[in-house]
Amino acid sequence: MATQITADSAILAYIENISEAEDDLLRELRELTAELPGGTAMQVPPSEARLLAFLVRLTGATTVLELGTFTGYSTLAMARALPRSGRLITCDISKKVTDIGADFWRKAGVDHLVDLRLGDALGTLETLEPGSVDVVFIDADKRNYAAYYDRSVTLLRPGGLIVVDNTLFFGRVADPDAQDADTVAVRELNERVRRDDRVDSCVLPVADGITLARKAG
Ligand SMILES: C[S@@+](CC[C@H](N)C(=O)[O-])C[C@H]1O[C@@H](n2cnc3c(N)ncnc32)[C@H](O)[C@@H]1O
Repeated sequence: MATQITADSAILAYIENISEAEDDLLRELRELTAELPGGTAMQVPPSEARLLAFLVRLTGATTVLELGTFTGYSTLAMARALPRSGRLITCDISKKVTDIGADFWRKAGVDHLVDLRLGDALGTLETLEPGSVDVVFIDADKRNYAAYYDRSVTLLRPGGLIVVDNTLFFGRVADPDAQDADTVAVRELNERVRRDDRVDSCVLPVADGITLARKAG
């Protein structure tokens, strides 16, 4: 039986070579973001952007909710996968970084699909109608992950999908010596998902760890 391979840089380069190429606009936004402090660590890699777009199409989503916009790279990838009547509500606290994304959403002709909500994401979640969302992508501050997750399950329609980023958190979740607040918060989220009867779930060892949780029904 094959075991889990280690995705070293040669394997990752191979995957990029045999995958649908990142287009010019996504590449331009990724490269521009990489010049910002912490930019590369914050934005999802191209492989994850492809997966997000794939999942939006696979689920036939028309309403997507994103927690953590940053410069809008994952937003752009998902918005392009939506139908013309779709809507992507994306939440962040920073106007400065999301302004960068807004330019690219306009250039890509998807700005009419993107509903940017500036302010604490927990507050925005309170304004949304339960059962109204098809896909949620959670990628904001780790300490609120459990609260984001709980509210997202309520907001999802039956059969809807939650995608949580960074659930292996640089491998720190498996290191008992790692007791910083963010790692502890990600571990708590992982336990919560595992025990949650409202969803079935799996953890993908892709990028920094991605959890998929599908709401029952
Ligand atoms: C990892 S980045 C998101 C990256 C983005 N999904 C991408 O792939 O480019 C996390 C973002 O969460 C935002 N954030 C942090 N705390 C937040 C909060 N309480 N409410 C909303 N957004 C928050 C940060 O400003 C930051 O832009």
